[in-house]
This record gives sequence, structure tokens and C-alpha cells, in this order.
Amino acid sequence: MVLVGATGAVGTEVLRILEQRDFPVDELVPVASPRSVGRKLRFRGGDLEVVGLQQKVFEGADLAVFDVSEELSLEWAPVAAESGAVVIDKSAAFRMDIDVPLVVPEINADQVRNPPKGIIATPNCTTTAMVMPVAALHRKWTVNRLVLATYQAASGSGQPGVEELWEQTQLAVKEPDAVREGRAGDVIKGGDTFVHPIALNVIPKCGSVKDDGYTSEELKLCHETRKIMGLPDLKVTATCVRVPVVTGHGVAVHAEFDSAVSLEHARALLAEAPGIELADDVGAHDYPTPLRATTQDACYVGRIRRDLFDDRALEFFSVSDNLRIGAALNAVQIAELLI
Ligand SMILES: NC(=O)c1ccc[n+]([C@@H]2O[C@H](COP(=O)([O-])OP(=O)(O)OC[C@H]3O[C@@H](n4cnc5c(N)ncnc54)[C@H](OP(=O)(O)O)[C@@H]3O)[C@@H](O)[C@H]2O)c1
Repeated sequence: MVLVGATGAVGTEVLRILEQRDFPVDELVPVASPRSVGRKLRFRGGDLEVVGLQQKVFEGADLAVFDVSEELSLEWAPVAAESGAVVIDKSAAFRMDIDVPLVVPEINADQVRNPPKGIIATPNCTTTAMVMPVAALHRKWTVNRLVLATYQAASGSGQPGVEELWEQTQLAVKEPDAVREGRAGDVIKGGDTFVHPIALNVIPKCGSVKDDGYTSEELKLCHETRKIMGLPDLKVTATCVRVPVVTGHGVAVHAEFDSAVSLEHARALLAEAPGIELADDVGAHDYPTPLRATTQDACYVGRIRRDLFDDRALEFFSVSDNLRIGAALNAVQIAELLI
């Protein structure tokens, strides 16, 4: 197996999950940028030496997991596939390609067999946190509209995003008076990853700006959900917001269905759905939070309510560890299906 982007936020988690799930690997080749070449990564009690990205690393490999930027995946995933490896790609490079299956194992595992281009894509981590419970409910009631608001962690922007949050938080802690007096903005400034300060702030823009004022993350939620669920006309609208959380993406979901929904039945469907953990007793302070979901392999769903004015609509809040669900875990689950 070749792991491209082994030193990044998702790649590090892939190594951890391969160990935790005892995934059978004869040889694991970690690949990263030239600045990491020669670095040692711990794996199963030994050291793996990071190598650079070149065609020969894929020779003889049956599986290549890509945890790098869209640009690098676009260039190198086909090279890996041509060398005979099945590629599992976590970037957005191939997600909307009609010859590339977009897979959430709990929903459409059947699509991993014989991918036409030798490439299987995994969805955006926010899409996964939302589509798992929506798909579970869709088995009973046909979903026809989703209105979403996301609460996305800094690690969704990779390791540099986490470092920016951490550095700004430390600066703010050193200047408590400025923070108390409402002058935190004088102490912490935006960085390379987030234009505005991410510590002590929320930023209602994730990804790049696209048509009609939407961002790339908002459009991914729409298009990827349609593809995964096989519902090309599903109406999806979203506002994506970055929050000062290290790991764990939250999504507030308003889901409209074709007929009246039963709260009790919705809870039962979610409770029995694979990969979902109900956290739905608000009176007992039982609801999903990022800290609860971090390092866990479940998508937590709670605050489930019927719309006050529409008996065909449900509200709920869903949270999952963005580095695992919809990223590293998703990829390892796909690899398990392939073997
Ligand atoms: N973070 C998430 O929550 C999340 C969730 C789902 C999907 N994704 C997607 O997964 C991919 C990886 O994201 P991430 O968050 O793990 O990013 P990241 O933390 O920034 O890691 C990027 C990785 O790419 C490597 N890299 C950079 N330039 C390279 C080059 N020229 N050749 C080879 N390797 C190179 C880096 O190596 P160095 O360490 O040497 O720089 C690092 O291992 C992205 O496409 C992202 O959109 C991320």
C-alpha cells in the first residue's frame, strides 16, 4: 500500500486506523512533500521512512490512498491507477467524475467493485457527517429538501489550520485584558489558512467563493449528497461556517420529506443505522458535541425534533470526527471492502 500525504492531518489518522483495525499490509510506503523526505513515521512498533512522490513508488502496489491536495491527486492518482493500484482519493479531484464512484461505505458500499478509472473517491467530511443520518431516514421517507448550517473544525483545513488556531489561542491567553475588553482582534490576526482570526471567532466562509455567493464547501454538500444518494434533483442549500474547534464537524440539518414523519420512528431508524450513535436526550444534556465525537468511529446524532410548522420536516444536529468519518476511516473501510 502507498499512502500519499502520510504526514498530513488525514494521513496521520489513516496510519492510526490501519493499526487500530489491524488492516493487513505487507508493505506500507509513506509519501509526502520533499520537506518530509527521510522523516520517520511510527507504524506497528517500527519506523517507516517517508519518500517523495514519484512514479516508481506505485510499482507493484495494489492500493494507493491519497490524502493530498486536489491538484496533486489530479496529477498523480491516474499515475497510480495506471501502475495497477486501486486508488482511494480523499480530495475533491474526482468526486463528481461520472466514472469515479463516490463512496460512503454505510450507504453505497456496492459501488467499490471495479471502478472504471481505478479510482474511488470519498466525500467531503462535512457531507459524510450529514448524509449518513439523512440516508438512514430516506429509507423510510423520501427526502426532497435539505437546509444545512455547518460548524466546521480547524483541522478540516489540514494541519496548518490546526496550527493557526493553536498559535492564536496561545496569543489570546497571554493577553486576557485585551480579550476581556473586546480588543482580541488587536492581539490575534488572520493567517495563511484563515483570512480572519479563527481563535475566539467564527468565520462564515469555508472554501473558495463560487457562483451566486456560495462557497466551494457549500456546493460540495449539495452535489456530493445528490451523487451519493442517487437523487440528482434533491434540493440542498447550506451555509458553511468555520469554528474554533480542533476536530469534529457539526451540521444543523433541516430535512424535508415527502410525507409526515414520526419522531419515534426517526429515532428508531437512526438508532439502528450502521455508523450512527444516537445522543438525543437534551434534558439529560445528551447531545452531539465535537469533543465527544473526536477519536470516535461514529456519527453522533441528536437534538432530533419535528419542524414546529411542518409535520414532514425534521431538525437534528449531527457531529463526527472529520479526520476519521468521511476521511481516514472512510478510506480504510473502503480498503477493507476491496480486500
Ligand atoms: N482535514 C480534513 O478534515 C479532511 C477531511 C476529508 C478530506 N480531506 C482532504 O484530504 C486531503 C488531505 O487533507 P489534510 O487535511 O490531511 O491536509 P494536510 O494536513 O495539509 O496534509 C497534506 C499532505 O500532503 C503532503 N504534500 C504536500 N505537498 C506534497 C507534494 N508535493 N508531494 C507529496 N506530498 C505532498 C503533505 O506533506 P508534508 O507534511 O511534507 O507537507 C501532507 O502529508 C485534502 O484533499 C483534503 O481536502 C481532508
